[in-house]
Amino acid sequence: MRYAWQDGAVTAAADSGQPSTTFFELVGGEPTFRKLVDEFYAGVATDPVLRPMYPEEDLGPAADRLRLFLMQYWGGPNTYSSQRGHPRLRMRHAPFRIGAVERDAWLHHMRRAVDRLDLSPEASAALWDYLERAAYFMVNVMEDPAGPA
Ligand code: HEM
Repeated sequence: MRYAWQDGAVTAAADSGQPSTTFFELVGGEPTFRKLVDEFYAGVATDPVLRPMYPEEDLGPAADRLRLFLMQYWGGPNTYSSQRGHPRLRMRHAPFRIGAVERDAWLHHMRRAVDRLDLSPEASAALWDYLERAAYFMVNVMEDPAGPA
């Protein structure tokens, strides 16, 4: 049995004629993504590197945007794009300085949040692989590994 999120276009539907199961459904739908993002933002709220980066006093709207984006990415409803348009995530992160320190802080809180979900090892690995690659992709400052001269 293969799911839509494995090997790109290979879906359960293609094998069986049944409607395909999305990763979104497989991991429990909206409540799972809400838990993930709520745990993540509980970490951000106390983080000395990340907290000052968020422009709004209330982290609730930022949490809504991240949750809706992740739900859409994994095959859930397209509410993110109907509210925000095309994700263009690198462009939307351009106003923020994201180097290795910011990326690793983001991943630290996300790792803890993923670990608090009750996912199968396969689903957890698929989710983490995506989040880690996406976080590396969001880095937008070049840093000299040797440090300042
Ligand atoms: C690498 C470290 C990252 C940092 C420091 C960071 C920081 C931020 C900040 C400060 C915002 C603005 C808050 C807001 O108003 O929504 C934001 C927005 C957002 N971030 Fe990140 N982010 C990172 C990685 C990621 C990754 C990997 C994803 C996706 C997997 C992501 C998805 C989003 C989304 C969907 C928004 C809202 C975009 C919008 O519709 O305006 N971010 N991020």
